[in-house]
Amino acid sequence: MAKVYLTTPLYYVNAEPHLGHTYTTVVTDTLARWHRQKGDEVLFLTGTDEHGDKIVQAAAAAGVTPREHADRISGIFRATWDACGISYDHFIRTTDPYHVATVQELLGRMERAGDIYFGGYGGLYCYGCERFYTEKELVDGKCPDHQVAPTYIEEENYFFRMSRYQQRLIEELEANPHRIEPERYRNEVLALLRGEALGDLCISRPKTRLSWGIELPFDARYVAYVWVDALANYVSAVRHVHPDAFDAYWPAAEHLIGKDILKPHGIFWTTMLMSAGLPLFKQLHVHGYWTRGESKMSKSLGNVIRPLEMKQRFGMDAFRYFLLREMAFGQDATFSEDAFVTRVNADLANNLGNLVSRTLAMQQRYFAGIVQPLDEWTDGDRALANAFAAAREEVAAFCEQLAFHRALEALWRAIDHANKYIVTTAPFTLAKNPDTKPRAGAVLHHLLEGLFVAAVLLRPFLPETSAKMLTMLAMPADARLGAEWQWGGAMADGQITQPPEILFPRIETDAA
Ligand code: MSP
Repeated sequence: MAKVYLTTPLYYVNAEPHLGHTYTTVVTDTLARWHRQKGDEVLFLTGTDEHGDKIVQAAAAAGVTPREHADRISGIFRATWDACGISYDHFIRTTDPYHVATVQELLGRMERAGDIYFGGYGGLYCYGCERFYTEKELVDGKCPDHQVAPTYIEEENYFFRMSRYQQRLIEELEANPHRIEPERYRNEVLALLRGEALGDLCISRPKTRLSWGIELPFDARYVAYVWVDALANYVSAVRHVHPDAFDAYWPAAEHLIGKDILKPHGIFWTTMLMSAGLPLFKQLHVHGYWTRGESKMSKSLGNVIRPLEMKQRFGMDAFRYFLLREMAFGQDATFSEDAFVTRVNADLANNLGNLVSRTLAMQQRYFAGIVQPLDEWTDGDRALANAFAAAREEVAAFCEQLAFHRALEALWRAIDHANKYIVTTAPFTLAKNPDTKPRAGAVLHHLLEGLFVAAVLLRPFLPETSAKMLTMLAMPADARLGAEWQWGGAMADGQITQPPEILFPRIETDAA
């Protein structure tokens, strides 16, 4: 069994879960479920990033200590993912003692490698981003993310000789084109590396300015820069969860991140690993940004979409479907309530919902739910079977590429086909005549088989819907499409299906 180690970024505890966090988490959850379904051994990690200036400021604004603040918001993230049914295996907090130990150990290794030195530094610092900016990076003299002018600060600090690894990283990324995907993000990192001297990375903050952090193992007057602290989590967690299988899981690590944190992952983390003498992660999967209108969605700019509110209003699967279907992984997408309602109504309420309710209602009405034998296949039957066989292959291929929108599109082609098959075969007419009623039973059997394939294929994407469909079909919750499975073989003659339950009520809007 292959080992698969999937990670989300660790979310800052300065904001509560919003659409951006939910997207990364839902995508990683889908991938984790997909691998588990394939039989892989999965470790799915998420958690919270709790140290640094930003958190101190957020705590101060809330009138509590950083620790109290971090406990509260981290708890909200965890409870949110639990309520949303996210199947993470481990939730890490950067304040966990085992993580603190790993950060110190990694820094110790980097220091022993001769890669850390002490020096003075002055620069433009954005408190929101927790980092120094070069003049060139500013837009109208302001931080492009926070739209505030950075502050000039001077201090003595420790530096990581990142520059030492510049050439090695270029060669590594050239030799392993899949290390960073999609390709445009690999090109972006390569362009950065080839374009300018990398410079060294300031990896400490004096405790006089910031004490909410992890103490440097070689100088108690300093804490670690929050990115160095946070990135190390990926190693801490696997050491903690699988202390005896670190060597098996670590090189299997696949980090899922948004494009805004490409540089820390693509450059800081890779060079830190090289310095510490650890193998690189397997892959970095970079997704785009959800926008609403022109502005990036974040708390400071308003327009917040809360996952629990979406779940409560529309159901988690409808929300998951929209996120996975609307955004091509790697590209940006726009979130609008109109687009959400249109997709849910068209694809879920109408297309999938109708197929399920019509098929199961006819099965109930004409055969009391009892599955009828198949007869000799017609060309139409064969075409239906082929449509689902194609969907099965396409879903697998697209999931491997993280092209979830295309996987769903492929599955919906088969669902569409099945709805048309109902129209062309007209089982509702066939069932009324005793001579043709057996054919109606066979047609419904084909449709039930299609629903079964759809339910299994949907499992990683829409887990609740998949489970409900399997229950209605009287199939085991863990049913799979194993190597031995053949069309018509899953639904047994005589098996009793249940009456349909409405999966996705149509969303009515004022405009409708
Ligand atoms: N704490 C760092 C990550 C450290 S990882 C070692 C961080 N946290 S974050 O809470 O600000 O954001 C985490 C993730 O949410 C990132 O992957 C980011 O891209 C994603 N998103 C935040 N807003 C987003 C959108 N509007 N759209 C898509 N994803 C975005 O960064």
